[in-house]
Amino acid sequence: MTLRHFTDLSAISETELRAMLDDAASRKARLKAGEHSKPLAGKVLAMIFEKPSTRTRVSFDVGMRQLGGETIMLTGSEMQLGRSETIADTARVLSRYVDAIVIRTTAHERLLELTEHATVPVINALTDDTHPCQIMADMLTFEEHRGPVAGRTFTWTGDGNNVLHSLLEASARFRFNINIAVPQGSEPMDRYVEWAKKNGGKVRLMRSAEEAVDGSDCVVTDSWVSMGQEHRARGHNVFLPYQVNAALMAKAKPGALFMHCLPAHRGEEVTDEVIDGPHSVVFDEAENRLHAQKAVLAWCLGA
Ligand code: CP
Ligand code: NVA
Repeated sequence: MTLRHFTDLSAISETELRAMLDDAASRKARLKAGEHSKPLAGKVLAMIFEKPSTRTRVSFDVGMRQLGGETIMLTGSEMQLGRSETIADTARVLSRYVDAIVIRTTAHERLLELTEHATVPVINALTDDTHPCQIMADMLTFEEHRGPVAGRTFTWTGDGNNVLHSLLEASARFRFNINIAVPQGSEPMDRYVEWAKKNGGKVRLMRSAEEAVDGSDCVVTDSWVSMGQEHRARGHNVFLPYQVNAALMAKAKPGALFMHCLPAHRGEEVTDEVIDGPHSVVFDEAENRLHAQKAVLAWCLGA
């Protein structure tokens, strides 16, 4: 059987992603109803983290346990990986012990190299370029609150980063429109924009956050400085016009949702008033990491 790696949304078909999302909703409902099935009993998941994490780490760990499996948490710096053992050799070795590997790393190529040499499924838990698990949780969250995401309009404002790249891929796979307002020099990478457009996504790149949120069903932002990008840090004044505050939210549709993958830098990319206000679904997103990733694990491991 071909290995099912969860590397990027662009690498998985629309039909499979939709099935995964529906499975996530169904697993969540069954869990809330008190059902505890253990389809991954006897399976072990290795989790390599080369960057900090709260949500991803805990939700994969809890999710795997809820499915009956076990986890091994590996911090990059405590592995031989941190003493220059190659990713390829790490993939070959871990594949002899475990049933699947989750990795959070720096360069996207490290994820791809792990995938190339592993003989078990590999799951992308964030790279410098993408964060697909986050976006599966966001799709689940949107649909729980507002119904089908197809045909809706999302606005991204702030820094054009890894989370945006996966949102761009999702816009094509789940067929919604995306307006992007970022300062000069913070644009998303061309290849993600071009891929989304080529695959049916409706993408608009703009400079004005006010124009971008107009008519929007969901406003999304993230930290102005991603992990490992500190050298690219730019003055707050550059980003301030892209802050999600009450005045900006008021320009979106009245029932628009506010999303943020967290951790948030309150007072920077979002104000307390918005993140703690009625539009915000940020803690539902965080919870849904658990349910979405259980569907990803089940898909990868055929459960
Ligand atoms: N949103 C997210 O991935 O959070 P962590 O960095 O805490 O895992
Ligand atoms: N863009 C952020 C996401 C954190 C979950 C980062 O890469 O640091």
